[in-house]
Amino acid sequence: MNDDRSDLELSKLPFMDMNLDIESRVEDLLQRLTLQEKFTLSSGMKWWYTKPIERLGIRSFAMHDGPHGVRVDNEGKIKSTYFPSAICRSATWNLDLSEKFGIAIAQEIRDVGAHMLLAPGINIQRTPMCGRTFEYQTEDPYLNKKLAVAVVKGVQSQRIAACIKHFICNNQETNRFTVSSEVSERALQEIYYPAFKAAVQEADAWSVMSSYNKINGIYGAENKHLLTEVLRDEWGFKGFVVTDWVATRWGTTTESCVNAGLTLEMPSAIKYDPKKMLQAYEEGKFSLDTFDENVKRLLRVMFLVGLFDKENTLLKGSRNTPEHQTLAREIAEEGIVLLKNTGALLPLDLEKVRKIAVIGPTAKRKTYLGGGSSSNFPPYEVKPIRGIKNKCQDHVELVTTPSEADVTLVFVGLQHKEGGDAENWDKDSFNLPLDQIELINETVKDNPNTIVINTSGSPVSMIEWIDKVPAVLQAWYGGMEAGNAIAAIIFGDTNPSGKLPITFPKKLSDSPGHTSKRTYPGNEKVFYEEGIFVGYRHFDTKNIKPIFPFGHGLSYTNFKYENLEINKDKVSGEEVFNITIEITNSGNHVGAEVVQLYIQDVECSIERPVKELKGFKKVKLKPSEKKTIKFEIGKENLSFFDENDNCWKAEKGLFKILIGSSSRDIRLQGEIEYLG
Ligand code: BGC
Repeated sequence: MNDDRSDLELSKLPFMDMNLDIESRVEDLLQRLTLQEKFTLSSGMKWWYTKPIERLGIRSFAMHDGPHGVRVDNEGKIKSTYFPSAICRSATWNLDLSEKFGIAIAQEIRDVGAHMLLAPGINIQRTPMCGRTFEYQTEDPYLNKKLAVAVVKGVQSQRIAACIKHFICNNQETNRFTVSSEVSERALQEIYYPAFKAAVQEADAWSVMSSYNKINGIYGAENKHLLTEVLRDEWGFKGFVVTDWVATRWGTTTESCVNAGLTLEMPSAIKYDPKKMLQAYEEGKFSLDTFDENVKRLLRVMFLVGLFDKENTLLKGSRNTPEHQTLAREIAEEGIVLLKNTGALLPLDLEKVRKIAVIGPTAKRKTYLGGGSSSNFPPYEVKPIRGIKNKCQDHVELVTTPSEADVTLVFVGLQHKEGGDAENWDKDSFNLPLDQIELINETVKDNPNTIVINTSGSPVSMIEWIDKVPAVLQAWYGGMEAGNAIAAIIFGDTNPSGKLPITFPKKLSDSPGHTSKRTYPGNEKVFYEEGIFVGYRHFDTKNIKPIFPFGHGLSYTNFKYENLEINKDKVSGEEVFNITIEITNSGNHVGAEVVQLYIQDVECSIERPVKELKGFKKVKLKPSEKKTIKFEIGKENLSFFDENDNCWKAEKGLFKILIGSSSRDIRLQGEIEYLG
């Protein structure tokens, strides 16, 4: 090989030819790499990079966290837009916003010279105690997959790779490096796989991050069943698998990872140390074909992101732009959920209110620091108090004594830190801190017009105060524009339209994962004994009333649902049927509603949930405006996974079509018969 090849000579090699198809470029480059160079490419350096191979002009492939903004360093030297946390984006139920978010964050990745975003995090929210609930999207597999596809499409439209993570069943942080998630095939298929599968099949995700934890006894990074049989063979995945950071420190061997289909070990070589790789190879522990297939996948993504292409042919990056900040604000506004609003206390009328008391620890708190890999450093963050002040100046007097005020805003919530909403630790309590509970209870005694604004990335107990308080907003972690977004909702500039992507239980023991220590947090193993009955599937089936159900969220206007029509009574085989309903804004504010479609299998040979989300549409309506909403439903939406026959099945019989404003506010019902 010629080590002194000039740039000019390199540029003439076939893999550098931008007009050649990607597969030919990959093949050409692969056969030019020596075995040592392939080993070199298989593990990372300096936390975020692959090692360059200068001889062939292969630059470092760079990747950064994370789900809410680009984080290049831990000191905040490089600033980036801080978007609302994933649970807040999910609460918008607005796929368009998720796609725009994907585009914007990819532009920021491009702007820092990188090629892959380590996001979205699409693990299912199995328990409200998981420290990373804020970072994941939802408890429901259908909503999860729709959101995941939108984000991945957005990111990759910019020729930046999305890395869907963490594959799979990384649903808690307790013992995350070593615990084995003991989960049934049916639960994998119906609950935990769908978003990963759809992101691969419908959005062609270019990368998957394997999980730290074991899945049924085998670590994510060496799980051949998951990485090869499921991802590649069944789903047709064309991208590469990367480890979670330092995951290979625990268990695993060089050959178990290579043979499983793991391409890249990050952030540096442990099991993929070139010497260990050579030894394993020479001892015949893996074949060149198997290894080449892993390497090829990284090369393919390198071409897809334009690593070898001329800079001026790539889409331009951008970062910290007013457009991205406006998008962060839009997501925050649409994601805030109005949980309760007795007597239409909200929105507040700036012309009528004279004095507002603003109290509580989270009014003045920034949220961006801490919380692990999904934290980032924005150029600014609008705290809630700033947002309220921006709106109230020259109109309303702001005080701190509830008894003196017309209305009191109490800001409570958790923090991105150990014991709160944070990576590496689960929450240490389902409750808000005791002093906050006392603050709410004391305040409401002094001022009945008390509005609670809860800033948390996961459900918290509200039972201690919810009945006493007339109005509650769930504000999540709303990103760098959170304060302005909260103010826009409080003063009615924006009509709330967020809906809960996760059930808020009355008490933790009501939650499906919390029936015993085996089911959470487990020890060496955590048993997913609830099977498919995760989230509202559990609450509905066991008839447990949550404090706020999945899909719940109020508006300042009202929506009238009517005229459900199903175009067929009976369907068979792969036939699809159409459902239409009419929805009217019957109130006085412009508003958006998320129309939710659930299906119930009336007769089935195995236990199925009372209902399952199978469609939703977000629709914006002016007062008195009416729109027709259409859903298309087919066999896939009627099916369950049959473990005996190891396949998806739809059984003959009746299915109820339930259309509602939340999972527990069903407004219209119909029925179809599936003939098989
Ligand atoms: C997290 C990943 C993250 C990685 C790199 C890990 O600890 O689990 O989600 O992408 O670190 O920061």
